Amino acid sequence: MKKRVYIKTFGCQMNENDTEKMYILLSDEYEPTLNPEEADLILINTCSVREKPQHKVYSEAGRYKHLKKKKPELIIGITGCVAQQEGENIIKKLPYVDLVLGTQGFYFIKEALKTFTKTKKPVVFTELKSDFKPPLILEEKNFISSDKKITAFVTIMQGCDNFCSYCIVPYVRGRETSRPPEDILKEVEELVKKGVREVTLLGQNVNSYGLKEKGYPDFAELLNMVSQIEGLWRIRFTTSHPKDLSDRLIKVMAENPKVCHHIHLPLQAGSNKVLKRMNRKYTKEEYFKKVKKLRDAIPDIALTTDIIVGFPGEEKEDFEETLEMLEKVRYHEIFSFKYSERPFTVAQKFNDKIPEEEKEKRLKKVHEVQARITKEIYNSYVGKEVEVLVEGFSAKSKELLMGRTTTNVIVNFKAPRLDLKGALVRVLIEEAGKHSLKGKYLETLKT
Ligand code: 5AD
Ligand code: SF4
Repeated sequence: MKKRVYIKTFGCQMNENDTEKMYILLSDEYEPTLNPEEADLILINTCSVREKPQHKVYSEAGRYKHLKKKKPELIIGITGCVAQQEGENIIKKLPYVDLVLGTQGFYFIKEALKTFTKTKKPVVFTELKSDFKPPLILEEKNFISSDKKITAFVTIMQGCDNFCSYCIVPYVRGRETSRPPEDILKEVEELVKKGVREVTLLGQNVNSYGLKEKGYPDFAELLNMVSQIEGLWRIRFTTSHPKDLSDRLIKVMAENPKVCHHIHLPLQAGSNKVLKRMNRKYTKEEYFKKVKKLRDAIPDIALTTDIIVGFPGEEKEDFEETLEMLEKVRYHEIFSFKYSERPFTVAQKFNDKIPEEEKEKRLKKVHEVQARITKEIYNSYVGKEVEVLVEGFSAKSKELLMGRTTTNVIVNFKAPRLDLKGALVRVLIEEAGKHSLKGKYLETLKT
C-alpha cells in the first residue's frame, strides 16, 4: 500500500502549481490525502511575500507537532518561499521539522526523502541557481484528483529580476528563468488530452518571457504557439509588469481569439513619487497610456490590479492619487495590501514608515471606492449575453453551474441540464453580485 502525503499550500497560484508538481513527483510512493492525521508525510508549501502569511507557517507547523508523538515515523517538511528565506533557522526554531526545501529545492523532494530516511538528520536544500531550469513534470494519470479539470495553470517562467523596493520575491525565487518552449507546449498538450480547455500561463513577470535566452520566442510569440494546440480554447496569463507590456502582446491579445480579454496589470500606487521609490520604472501617465492602448485594441478588456497602501513616505496626497487612478482606470477587481516590511528589501531601510492605523484606514478607503466601481461594472453586464466556459457547480448551490467570462468574471447560472462541465455556453446575465454574476443558460456553443 502506498504511503500518504498531505500538503498545505499558502500563497499565490505559482505555489499551488508547485504543490501539484510535488504531488506528481511523489506519486510512485505516496498518494494524496486531505487529512493530515493519516499522513506519513506532511509538507507546508509557504509564502513570504507579506509578513502575515509568513507567520502562519509557524502556527501551521505547530499544529502537526503532536502528530509525531503518535506516529514517530511521520516526516514533516517546509517548502517554498519561507523555506528559502529561513533555511537552517527553521530547524533551529522548529526542531521537529525534517525537510527544508527552497523554491528550487522542492524539485529534489525524492532525493531529500531518501537522504533523510538514511541519515535521520534534517535535510536543508536552499541553493538558488541563476541558470536553473525546472524539469518537465507531467501527471501520468489523474492522480491528484479524479475530477476532470477544465482549467489549469502552467508555469512558464520563475524568479524575478525587477527588484521592486518592497518585494522579497527576487530574493526567494531567484533570477528570472524561462522554461523551454517545447516543455511548455508538451505540458499544455498533455493537459488538453485530459480535458483541460483553458490554461493560465504563470510567471512573476510573463512579459519578459524568453528575453534572456537564445533562440526562445518572446511572450507574444509563445502565446501564438500555445494557441495552435487543438482542443485548447482559452489562454490566460499572469502576472504582467506594466513596464514590459509590449505593443506586440497587445496585438496578439486583440487578434488571437483564444487569448482571453483580461489582463492583471499591477499598478501598486498612483503617485509618481511613490512609484519611483518603489522602483517600478513607470509613471502613472505611462501606465495609463498602456491602459488606453489596451482598451483601443480590445474594447471589452477587463483589467485587474494590485495596490499597496501605506508604502513608506506615502503622504495623504500620494494616496489620493491612487484613488484617482482607480476611478480613471476602472478595474473590474483589485487586490489591495497594507505595506509589509520584508527582509533583504531596500524599502526595509526607509525610515518614513506609515503607522498601522493609517494603513488600515487607507486600505478601507480603497476597498470602499473599488467596491462601488466593481458594482457599477458588474451591473453593466446585466441584460448582456456572455460566453462562459463551464468549470463545474457553483460554490453555493449544486443546482447552479459556474464558469467564467473571457473577462474572468465568475458567472453562476441556471441551466436545463447540469452535465455541461467543460462546455462553452452562452448565458444571459440577469443579476450582479459583489464578486460574481448570475444568469440563465441560453445555448451550448462548443463541447
Ligand atoms: N507589502 C505589501 N504587499 C506586497 N506585495 C509584494 N510585496 C509586498 C509587501 N512587502 C504585493 C504586491 C504584489 C502582490 C503579489 O503582493 O502588490 O503585486
Ligand atoms: Fe516583486 Fe516587483 Fe518582481 Fe513583482 S515585479 S515579483 S512586485 S520584484
